[in-house]
Amino acid sequence: MSAQNELQATVDALAQAGKGLLAADESGPTIAKRFKTIGVESTEENRRAWRTLLLSTPGLGEFISGVILYEETLGQQADDGEPLPQLAAHQGIVPGIKVDTGKIPLAHASGDEITQGLDGLAKRLEGYKAQGARFAKWRAVYNVSDTLPSRLAIEANAESLARYAAICQEAGVVPIVEPEVLMDGDHSLTRCAVVTEAVLHEVFHALNRHAVVLEHMLLKPSMVIAGKGHALHASVEQVAAHTVAVLGRTVPPAVAGIFFLSGGQTPEEATANLDAINRTGRRPWPLSFSYGRALQESPLDTWCGQPQNVREAQLALLKRARLNAAASLGCYDA
Ligand code: 13P
Repeated sequence: MSAQNELQATVDALAQAGKGLLAADESGPTIAKRFKTIGVESTEENRRAWRTLLLSTPGLGEFISGVILYEETLGQQADDGEPLPQLAAHQGIVPGIKVDTGKIPLAHASGDEITQGLDGLAKRLEGYKAQGARFAKWRAVYNVSDTLPSRLAIEANAESLARYAAICQEAGVVPIVEPEVLMDGDHSLTRCAVVTEAVLHEVFHALNRHAVVLEHMLLKPSMVIAGKGHALHASVEQVAAHTVAVLGRTVPPAVAGIFFLSGGQTPEEATANLDAINRTGRRPWPLSFSYGRALQESPLDTWCGQPQNVREAQLALLKRARLNAAASLGCYDA
C-alpha cells in the first residue's frame, strides 16, 4: 500500500461516525498517580493487568475506534499470550502510540513549557509500526494566566507539533496533533477562548509550513472551558458555543476529525459538553472524544486492583464509552 493509501485507510478506520478514541497512554509517573487513588502500586504487572482489562472489554469496538497506548503496553501481552496491540485490533480498535517524551520548562520563558521527543522519532516510528501502531499522538501543553502562554511558547510548541506530524506522515503513521490549553488556574472562559484561538491559529500555520496533509491527521484539542478555580461555572451551552466558534475560526474543514481530550472534567461533564458541542452551530468535521480520565475513572474505581472486579469494571468502561459515543452524535440523554 502506498503511504497515502495507508494514511487514508487509518483515518477512515479512526474517524467513524458514532465512535471515539480511548486514551490509555499515561506515562509511568501519570499512571502511578492514577493507581494511587485506588491504592494500587504501579508495577509492570499491574499496568499490564489494567490495560488488558480495558482492551479485552467485550463489545468495546462498538463505541471505540482507536486506542492510544504507551510504549510499554505495545510490548505487553494478555494472559493468553496475545500481544495487547493485537488484542485491540481483534476488537476492531486501531492501536496507536504516544510518541512525545514529555514536557520541560521552555528556556527564557518563565512558566511556559515545551514538549520533547523529535530526536530519533522517524527511527522509533519504524519500531512502533512493526509492533502494530498505525497512528501516533504528541501533546503540547499551554499554561494559562493573564500573561501565559507567551508568544514564544505558542510558536515553539506549534513548530514541534508540525514537525512531529510531518515525520509521522512520511512514515505512514497518522498523527494526532494535541494542543492542550490547561484547565488549571482561575482564568475565565473568555480568556480560555482567546488563548485557544491563538494556539490553534499558530498550530495550523505551522502545519501548513511543514506541508502536513490535513486530510491525513486528527486534531485533539481541549474544549473552551473556564479554569478550575474560576468563580463562574459556565453552562454546557456556553462551553459548546465558544468551543465551536473557536474551532470554526481556526481549523480548516479538510481536517479529518476532531477528538477532544477531557483534561480534568468529570466524566459526566465531558459527556454533556461533547453532546452540546454536537448540537451547536456549523460543524464541518466530525467532533468526537479521545478521553483518558473521563473514560477510565469509573472503571478504575470499580477495579481497585482486584481480579474479581474485572467484569464489573469492564461494564463501567463500556457504559462511559456508549454514552460518549451517543454524545458524539448529539444524542446523549443525561
Ligand atoms: P484526558 O482525557 O484525561 O485529558 O487524557 C487525554 C490525553 O490523552 C491527554 O494527553
